[in-house]
Formats: sequence, structure tokens, C-alpha cells
Amino acid sequence: MTVSHSPVHVINHLDRDYLRQALEHDVTVGLTSSPKWLPPKWFYDETGSALFSRITRLPEYYPTRRELAILRERSREIARAGGADTLVELGSGTSEKTVLLLEAIKGAGPLRGYTPVDVDAVTLESAARRLSVQYPGLDVRAVCADFERHLSLLPQNGRRMVAFLGGTIGNLEPDVRAVFLKELRAALRPGETFLLGADLVKNPARLVAAYDDAEGVTAEFNRNVLRVINRELRADFEPEAFTHVARYDEHHEWIEMRLRATRDMRVRIDALGLVVEFAEGEETRTEISAKFRPEGLRAELEDAGFRVRRHYTDPDGDFTLLLAGR
Ligand code: SAH
Ligand code: AVI
Repeated sequence: MTVSHSPVHVINHLDRDYLRQALEHDVTVGLTSSPKWLPPKWFYDETGSALFSRITRLPEYYPTRRELAILRERSREIARAGGADTLVELGSGTSEKTVLLLEAIKGAGPLRGYTPVDVDAVTLESAARRLSVQYPGLDVRAVCADFERHLSLLPQNGRRMVAFLGGTIGNLEPDVRAVFLKELRAALRPGETFLLGADLVKNPARLVAAYDDAEGVTAEFNRNVLRVINRELRADFEPEAFTHVARYDEHHEWIEMRLRATRDMRVRIDALGLVVEFAEGEETRTEISAKFRPEGLRAELEDAGFRVRRHYTDPDGDFTLLLAGR
């Protein structure tokens, strides 16, 4: 479906029925499982995206600053090596880091298109609008889609570099990640490239602080998934009755965010005709955020058929960017 009344071209693969069915499915499966879980993509309505933006500015949350530092230093080299005229950005959010890449592509040759892809339609459209004003003549096609399901439907215009920044790859479970990487490679044509940003393994105390900030912004972000379910599925969660938990799992090398029930609760989810019981202390997993080792990440890309051409890290070795060809 294409909506053409806005100055940017919006392609929507997530109409309300689709979103509703997907949410119903995930909530039914996740909250009737033991232990309970919810997928992180449901954090991101307009409020969730705004909370994530605040997280990126917190003193404890280093990944955005580290990735920006690498991009400031290396964008020109990345653009020259990529040879793209069109940037596709998966999980683009507010597209704040994007300008660095767009400028570098423009400097290396013609810049023709920008295709941000996100589940949050509101944030996606306002970012796309901002960039189409900032870059008159740029072919901006905003795609509201789920990158776990719609990679084969990405617009094919131009010679593309697909960027997946911020470490969002780490929010996918390892088996889902492997499928995602294979599907992405299959969606690329010869000569197109993939730019991947990923957070690296480091001191667990720093990791936990980054996901459990003193101001409590991450806690609000975590509880936002309950507000989304209340609104969309007519549920009666009391978000404040759940405490935010961030724990580092040394075995899997990932941060887990959970919501812990502070007392026994029965929650009605009217749209599903479901009543879910929570015992005091019971934890629902809402996100994993995997931390990578450079050699492991390279192996995952190679297993999916990519060829890693360049890799960069910031001076402190906190974050990495990889540029790969298909
Ligand atoms: N790339 C930005 C934002 C990262 S936040 C940055 O680096 O700062 C993660 C973004 O991915 C959010 O905007 C969220 O809405 C989007 N997202 C999460 N799961 C998604 C999915 N399955 N499909 C498409 N977008 C998704
Ligand atoms: C979007 N993603 C990479 C963030 C992360 O760090 O895993 C989401 C986030 N969760 C808590 N804080 C930030």
C-alpha cells in the first residue's frame, strides 16, 4: 500500500490489521510460555522511540556515541568502498546518525536515494520528512516494515548500501539473526553492500549500567511495552507494578532486560480473551542485547554468505562497524 499525500513517499507493509495480528500472536505465545517473554519490537511506538532517543544521550549508554565516533572518522572511507548511490537503513528510528553517511556518499559520487525502514510509522515519517527537506532532490522512500519479515520487499532503486546501525542486530535471538543475515544477503544484488554496527563484549559492570541508568529512562522504556499492550489489546497491566531488571548473561554474552512482578497479579487482555497470572517476583524477558566478539561476528556474516571487506572499532574497542559485500 502506498500513501502519497505527504511530501515523502511512504510504503506501508504494516497496516493496522497486520500489526494487530502480529502483536496478538506474539503476546499470546510469549505470555503463555514459561518463562514468559515479549519481543522487543513492541517497545517502539512514538513514546518508545522518544524514550530510546533519550537513552542514546544518557551518560551510561555509550553505544551511540561510540558508533558516531567511528562514523565521523570513517564514513568517507566506507562510502568510497561501498560505491553506493542509495542508502537503505534498517531500524532507522530518528535517523540521527544517517546524515554522516549521506554526506559521505554525496562526497564520493552521486547521492540518489534514502530508504529508512522501521516499525514505528510516526518516527519513521517525521525522520524521512526532515531528511527530504535537508536534501532537496533526494529520492526518500520511507518503508514501514518489519525487517524480520519484509526484506524481500525493499525498494530496489539505485545501487544500495544497507546500513543496520546501533547494535540492533543484538536484539535478535541467534537463530533469528542467522535467518535475517541470510535473507538480507539474498535481497542484495552484486555490487551492493551491508554496513553493520554491533556492540562488543566488555566489562559486565559497564554493560549493566548502560541498561540500568540512574535516571530510570531505560526502566520506562522497558515498561512501555506494557503500555502498548494496554492500548492495542485492551489490557489492564499496571506498568508501575513491574520493576526493571537488567542482567548480564556471561554464558550467552548478552544483556537481558526483564520486567519483574512486584506482587501476585491477574492481568486481563480483553482483545485476546486472556487472563495472565503473574506471581510475585516472576520475571518476563523483554529484550536480549547481544554483545559480540569481532571474530564471532565476522564468522556469522561469512556463514550467511557475506564477505567482510572492512572492519572498524572506536579507540576504546567498545563498538564495531563492518562493511561487507554479498
Ligand atoms: N538505528 C537507530 C535506532 C535504533 S533503535 C540508532 O542506531 O540509534 C531500534 C530501531 O529499530 C527502532 O527505531 C525500532 O522501531 C526499530 N525496530 C525494532 N524492531 C524492528 C523490526 N522488527 N523491524 C523494523 N524496525 C524495527
Ligand atoms: C536498539 N537497541 C540496539 C538497544 C540496545 O542497546 O539493545 C535497545 C535498548 N534497550 C535498552 N536500552 C537500549
